[in-house]
Amino acid sequence: MKILILGNGGREFSIARAISNEDAEHELFFQPGNGATGTLGTNLNIKDYNDLASWAKENKIELTIVGPEAPLVDGVVDIFKAEGLVIFGPSKEAAQLEGSKVYMKNFLAKYAIPTARYIETDSIEDAFKFADSLTAPIVVKADGLCGGKGVIIAQNHDEAKIAISEMLSGKSFGDAGLKVIVEEFLDGYELSMFAVCDGEDYILLPAAQDHKRLHDNDEGPNTGGMGAYAPTPLVDEALYQKVRERIIRPTLDGMQKEGAPFEGVLFIGIMVVNGEPITLEFNVRFGDPECEILMPLMTSSVSDMFLKASTNRLNEIKVEFSKQFAVGVVMASKNYPYSNSTPAEIIVDEVHHEEVKNFTHISYAGVSMEDGVLYADGGRVLVCVGLGDSIKEARDRAYMRCGQVHFAGKQLRTDIAYQALQ
Ligand code: AMP
Ligand code: GLY
Repeated sequence: MKILILGNGGREFSIARAISNEDAEHELFFQPGNGATGTLGTNLNIKDYNDLASWAKENKIELTIVGPEAPLVDGVVDIFKAEGLVIFGPSKEAAQLEGSKVYMKNFLAKYAIPTARYIETDSIEDAFKFADSLTAPIVVKADGLCGGKGVIIAQNHDEAKIAISEMLSGKSFGDAGLKVIVEEFLDGYELSMFAVCDGEDYILLPAAQDHKRLHDNDEGPNTGGMGAYAPTPLVDEALYQKVRERIIRPTLDGMQKEGAPFEGVLFIGIMVVNGEPITLEFNVRFGDPECEILMPLMTSSVSDMFLKASTNRLNEIKVEFSKQFAVGVVMASKNYPYSNSTPAEIIVDEVHHEEVKNFTHISYAGVSMEDGVLYADGGRVLVCVGLGDSIKEARDRAYMRCGQVHFAGKQLRTDIAYQALQ
């Protein structure tokens, strides 16, 4: 197939890598891609979605896969579909499940899907009043997209009120904060679950765990994610069943009733509290770095899954997963997540060790290529992925690979998957 992938991260690289490893021949294009996706296909530079759709039509692209949330929230899927193109991802309206936390929370409430108790408001008095009714910590969220920074876990009522005031005044997040959610703090452990949906049916992928904090022991600032592993032993069949029955099924049915059937990846951020799964949030795309560890666990065709999901035919296929575990360790630039870093040359040692060769690989994210030399030029630079018959084996292998990657100022956590190994 001729396939176009939107995005420039490790997520998109890992999707492309999985498709490139299929038996069938594919030709890949990226908008815009990164310094490493150019080795798997052709990087484009067509920013306008209408122009991109015209290009896709002229070039007979058979499937477009959208990686990040921004183009989805901007309606790229609607534009492509209006041109009769096949594209994987939710419509602009369905993307509201991520684009507006107010939409999401109200949707969850309407369809009785478990979530934290909350108030949604643009009134500072109402927000304060609800905050006063909760015991600390208190969670305050900006309505719109804030690049993962719009959630404040306030340790006391004063902190919560400051966060509320700064959001509602437009000070902290501009228009994205003009409505806020104030909600109860859920105390439990967090999971990421991913359902590939075609509007009606879905395929649930193995549950993953992300590591959001920069430093070991979950210390330091929040990041986009410093590592992930799957499947996690923190989920058993009973929990999967609860997530299916209480969260995914009512969400797909509810979105149909709303006239916005959900196609694409439904990423469910779950807090497990006393064994019960509670919805923290939805995203409408794969997590990054979760995607990098889920793609290599799929043994059936990834491109066919996306194609069938985009054409309402998921019920025709059986998606299969390896029995192995995958662990992904992010290597980030020196100043991540605070500011940009000076581009640094990346040197990857030649791999001789059979185990490292056969059971690890690198998914490239924030990299550029100049004269055949790879530079770290983004926040999260790459992910070293290890596969193994146990989480420990997969993790040891991922870290063996990390030891072979060098660039100035590299940062990484040394404890990815610790919750599974305790
Ligand atoms: P969100 O973008 O809504 O997933 O929030 C980002 C992070 O904040 C989540 O991954 C959780 O770690 C945390 N969080 C969000 N809402 C809550 C909540 N109600 N209780 C506890 N932690 C939360
Ligand atoms: N790793 C979490 C995210 O992609 O939002």
